[in-house]
Amino acid sequence: MQWADVLATRSSRMKASEIRELLKLLDQPDIISFAGGIPDPALFPAEAFRDGFAAALEGGAAAGALQYSVSEGYRPLRDWLAAHMTAIGVPCGAENILITSGSQQALDYLGKLMLSPGDTALVTWPTYLGALGAYNAYEPRYDRLDPKGNRPAEEIAAAAKNAGGRVKFAYLSADFANPTGETLDLTGREALLDLAGDLECAVIEDGAYQALRFDGRPVPPILALDIARTGSIEAARTIYCGSFSKTLAPGLRVGWVCAAKEVIGRLVLMKQAADLHSSTVNQIVTHRVAEALFDSHTAKLRETYGARRDHMLAALAREMPEGVRWQRPEGGMFVWLTLPPGMDGADLLARSLESERVAFVPGRAFFADGSNANTARLSFSCAGDRMIDEGIGRLGRLIRREMGKAAA
Ligand SMILES: Cc1ncc(COP(=O)(O)O)c(C=O)c1O
Repeated sequence: MQWADVLATRSSRMKASEIRELLKLLDQPDIISFAGGIPDPALFPAEAFRDGFAAALEGGAAAGALQYSVSEGYRPLRDWLAAHMTAIGVPCGAENILITSGSQQALDYLGKLMLSPGDTALVTWPTYLGALGAYNAYEPRYDRLDPKGNRPAEEIAAAAKNAGGRVKFAYLSADFANPTGETLDLTGREALLDLAGDLECAVIEDGAYQALRFDGRPVPPILALDIARTGSIEAARTIYCGSFSKTLAPGLRVGWVCAAKEVIGRLVLMKQAADLHSSTVNQIVTHRVAEALFDSHTAKLRETYGARRDHMLAALAREMPEGVRWQRPEGGMFVWLTLPPGMDGADLLARSLESERVAFVPGRAFFADGSNANTARLSFSCAGDRMIDEGIGRLGRLIRREMGKAAA
């Protein structure tokens, strides 16, 4: 069988993710890994989940928990999320919430909903690799979104038209982005909404890390600013994608979309066709756990991850040679390194795994055009102090050696 002959054109852009391939290496016990952007399993509220599953499956409750359910999602969870979104500045009701199987599914559905082949998706340079993976299947063209220094809307629209489509949406993670850890300030968010208005396109706001702010002043979600302009979520162009993966646990695959009813209605049809609904029992248990401890648990995560960030920043300041740059993220899980010009993050990783046994993610894969090879993403979420000191020390020495070789 020649499988290549029967594949759709869209599958040609589906590539193995560099991160997934890498994760395969990481179960080797001697590797110090700053690669995976995953929550620390030691911090999962396992006890609360155990109790939640026991209650959900006890006696008559099991009949509902194990049954098919509605595509929109478990109503009490949608109510909880509507209250949560309202509390972070987005006034909305349960009819504005769709439960998805992780926010990754929301990104896929939104690509499916909006992108025809040749349409343009605006993404930051770099952007979340999984978003590119989700959108690639719908054969878009990517253009660079730079909310703070964007080209004029007419230029972006003309380029999209030349490519045979139009700009459908701007996608970004506004808080503690994956991979850069950066947060878009208020001015940038307003400028983005201006641009999206001029382009008459949607905004996809990825809030995966929103609850993980360690310090600094919270910036309202783009959807909140959009509602402040338009008067109602029903008139807003912004679609917010949220997730319990970084706060409670990713294994249950519970995420959500918050948007105008019209968008939710279209996504519900998509979900019916794709997987009917997200796991009933997981939604029920997630609701119980969120209701019981979301606030106290996220406070604990912020404290722990915040201390790890500080430790990693201190180690970088101590160990990295002149010529390596990074910024201080106010939350999330990542520090983004810019290596000296000409140093390739992927080559560095190969050497690092071989001689230093330290893993990180080379930055190039996060750029839609594969540029900026001299970058790398480090995650501090699963790293204890000793691991950070040792791993960053080794990495600093390796980079110094590589710089010496390049100079020789
Ligand atoms: C920015 C961003 N968005 C979305 C996701 C997907 O998360 P999930 O599908 O687990 O909600 C991730 C996961 O790493 C992420 O980093």
